Amino acid sequence: MMSKLIFEKNLKGSNTFTIPPADIPEVDIATSIPASFLREAAPALPDISEVEAVRHFVDLSHKAYGVDNGFYPLGSCTMKYSPKINEWAARLSGFANIHPYQPVKTVQGAMELLYNMQNLLAEITGMDAVTLQPAAGAHGEMTGVMAIKAYHQHRNDHHRTKMMVPDSAHGTNPATANVVGFDVVEVKSNSRGLVDLEDLKSKMGPEIAGLMLTNPNTLGLFEEEIQDIAAVVHEAGGLLYYDGANLNAVMGISRPGDMGFDVVHLNLHKTFSTPHGGGGPGSGPVGVKSHLADYLPVPLVVKEGDKYVFDYNRPKSIGKVKNFYGNFGVIVKAYAYILALGADGIKDAAQQAVLSANYLRQELKKDYHVPFDRLCKHEFVATAKTQMDENGVTTLDIAKRLTDYGFHPPTVYFPLIVKEALMIEPTETETRERLDDFLQAMSRIAEEARNHPETVTTAPHNAVITRVDEVTAARNPIVKWEDNS
Ligand SMILES: Cc1ncc(COP(=O)(O)O)c(C=O)c1O
Repeated sequence: MMSKLIFEKNLKGSNTFTIPPADIPEVDIATSIPASFLREAAPALPDISEVEAVRHFVDLSHKAYGVDNGFYPLGSCTMKYSPKINEWAARLSGFANIHPYQPVKTVQGAMELLYNMQNLLAEITGMDAVTLQPAAGAHGEMTGVMAIKAYHQHRNDHHRTKMMVPDSAHGTNPATANVVGFDVVEVKSNSRGLVDLEDLKSKMGPEIAGLMLTNPNTLGLFEEEIQDIAAVVHEAGGLLYYDGANLNAVMGISRPGDMGFDVVHLNLHKTFSTPHGGGGPGSGPVGVKSHLADYLPVPLVVKEGDKYVFDYNRPKSIGKVKNFYGNFGVIVKAYAYILALGADGIKDAAQQAVLSANYLRQELKKDYHVPFDRLCKHEFVATAKTQMDENGVTTLDIAKRLTDYGFHPPTVYFPLIVKEALMIEPTETETRERLDDFLQAMSRIAEEARNHPETVTTAPHNAVITRVDEVTAARNPIVKWEDNS
């Protein structure tokens, strides 16, 4: 049933709240506030009783879908369950109530946490220095690519105006390169879904500043020739950027620093205990090898004797990329998560994530086309090719039908190099039973597509809103209620 907006539940006279008597002298608004600041009519707030307002919002909360109420295999987003104890840690008053302008000597515990976190992330990624400032993955990309630009400029290497990005890359990679002022050179994938080394070599040259790469890539495949790729880039004077948004597959097992990367960003809000998406705060720390450390944003947290202080004395720094020191609460959660799991637990989480993805890949290929059908890492790409060719059922139809079965759909139509892509990332926190429930739903949908495809092509059947005009919704969104009465 279509939900009413709270404004449409307006019932004159039902709002019977009382406010306590004023404990300050009353003033005459008309004479004490200039007329130009006074509103002409009362605000159009809904007249609604307390219980109806509570029901309205509880009802809305039930309509929201999140990891806490269901499986969410959104490829590339690592929608894993984040332990609630880490939320508790971030809300401890000693962390939550400190003020960023407080003297550093009064917040030594928080400073120690930041310092330790810089070191832990350096250890996990195989880098030499880390900033915790960036607020998201794309923001980390921007910070890291700005450091690459500063590095070339300080060496008077001003001809490096181009950044290489594979055709399988996440959209933020070319966007970042562009925002930082580079022209993007696209590198092709080969028939195995990996960087085409010959294409890379043919495009390499003195104007290339670097290559941005995620490993495993967005097909969930590990770049087996990563050391050769690194050699090609470095020999030509370029730098290698690691998009660490897919770190969940390899953390505790292999390190970008050991693969030859010079810069890495992480998405704490995917890998380390903050949910991705939903508009909450994120964190995209950036780690660099020593030859780039001088360019990191100011300040870094350093230890002087037994005290923790901010180091602003970094003349080559690209400057600040965010106010204060990053999204501290997200960093606390990630810190608690890393300490709770320890080195073995982190490795175990990555292995479980890989196992879950390979289990789904093996089972799903009974009904769906899997274009790169070999051992994957944390995610893999299936497609609706069979359903499309045989019955005209598309990836979008399957995604919509999945919602009828109570599942959040996988990422669809990405990566762009795979037609009708369904990109599936189950994560390590799902049980075998939950994975089997998902497989059962996918198998039923495949059967429906064969026998009565209109059930799938007209899905969803149980949703409040069925299929929206996505172009209009994106270009002309109506995000606020207008009082047309
Ligand atoms: C591979 C990859 N790179 C970069 C990003 C960007 O991260 P954010 O959404 O935090 O900006 C994502 C986000 O999902 C991603 O999957």
